Amino acid sequence: MKKDLLEVTIVGGSGYVGGELLRLLLRHPQVRINQVTSRKFAHLEVSLLHPNLRGITDLKFLSPDEVKPCDLIFLALPNGESMPGMEKWLGLSEKIIDLGADFRLKDAAEWQLWYGTEHTRPDLLPTFVYGLPEIYRQEIKSARYVAGPGCEAAVSILCLYPFIKNNIIKNHPIIIDAKMSSSQAGSKASWASHHPERAGAIRSYKPTNHRHQAEIEQALRPFSGDIAVGISATAVEMVRGILVTIHTFLDKEISEKEIRGILKKEYGNEPFVRIIKMNRGLYRYPEPKILQGTNFCDLGFELESRTSRLVIIGAIDNLVKGAAGNAVQCLNLMSGFPEETSLEFTGLHPV
Ligand SMILES: NC(=O)c1ccc[n+]([C@@H]2O[C@H](COP(=O)([O-])OP(=O)(O)OC[C@H]3O[C@@H](n4cnc5c(N)ncnc54)[C@H](OP(=O)(O)O)[C@@H]3O)[C@@H](O)[C@H]2O)c1
Repeated sequence: MKKDLLEVTIVGGSGYVGGELLRLLLRHPQVRINQVTSRKFAHLEVSLLHPNLRGITDLKFLSPDEVKPCDLIFLALPNGESMPGMEKWLGLSEKIIDLGADFRLKDAAEWQLWYGTEHTRPDLLPTFVYGLPEIYRQEIKSARYVAGPGCEAAVSILCLYPFIKNNIIKNHPIIIDAKMSSSQAGSKASWASHHPERAGAIRSYKPTNHRHQAEIEQALRPFSGDIAVGISATAVEMVRGILVTIHTFLDKEISEKEIRGILKKEYGNEPFVRIIKMNRGLYRYPEPKILQGTNFCDLGFELESRTSRLVIIGAIDNLVKGAAGNAVQCLNLMSGFPEETSLEFTGLHPV
């Protein structure tokens, strides 16, 4: 039965994704956040960690052991940390949206290959739907369990999907050059995130074998057959946002007008995908800076006829369309609420 007010719990609420879930859901008219967890900050105010929420909420963190039954649980835990507690979470809630990587890959052997540990709940893998609404909307509507995509994967899949589905990209390698922000690494400090090391960096940190390649290939396989993509990831001076520049080559000529037609057909009715390819102005291509806090994925392209190269450009806020906003979009679909609820923020300019 459809409920008018959904009681929601955020596990891992002191992290960056948890903070964004709070920001978005505290304004959701059909959601009540009744529990937020943190082990380190249990019984302290949520606004201590998320100062943007001062005066908006009196919520305090609970320890994960104190969580009581509710309608839907968001798990915003580090990769590999959702699996061990899964039996408990399944007993406490009918619906679960996991934002980590634990249930994204359908094959437990793939998990072991890319994440280096044994998957301890392979029995649950078939029960999770990959939570990218633009591709799996119908499946998400009836899902009990959803696995939110990785952020580079989300933007890359949205960029590639129309081209692969419509046979524009077929026989050539696909190379994703990803520029990454610091918040993608989460809120836990590390050597790499230490200010003198991170500030001002343009650091190539994963030129090959990026984990998200596996989920991109898995998500696109139904439309492409076997496919291989490569990611080269570079950390740049940005707190939020991802810019992907995807390079591939075409088998036969195609006009800009034809590509625009395909993108309109696939994304014309999508509330959060915008085609950005302008002839004038400063913001002629997708740019993460102006997407901060929004659930948009901006997508553009360019053709180089001399070399038959197709360049696809995509931008998102990694914490919103790449994580919390996309998960709220899934909650809306799973609960029969209007899909855009709580995701209306247009972003800021200048910022
Ligand atoms: N950051 C991004 O851009 C992004 C984008 C897409 C997806 N994701 C995924 O979203 C998840 C969360 O990312 P994040 O950036 O928010 O990470 P984060 O800032 O490190 O937050 C992790 C949260 O989990 C809690 N936690 C850690 N281990 C736990 C455990 N064993 N049991 C219970 N709570 C635990 C932490 O709080 P306490 O230690 O106080 O309990 C913290 O609240 C990750 O799986 C990540 O892959 C992140």
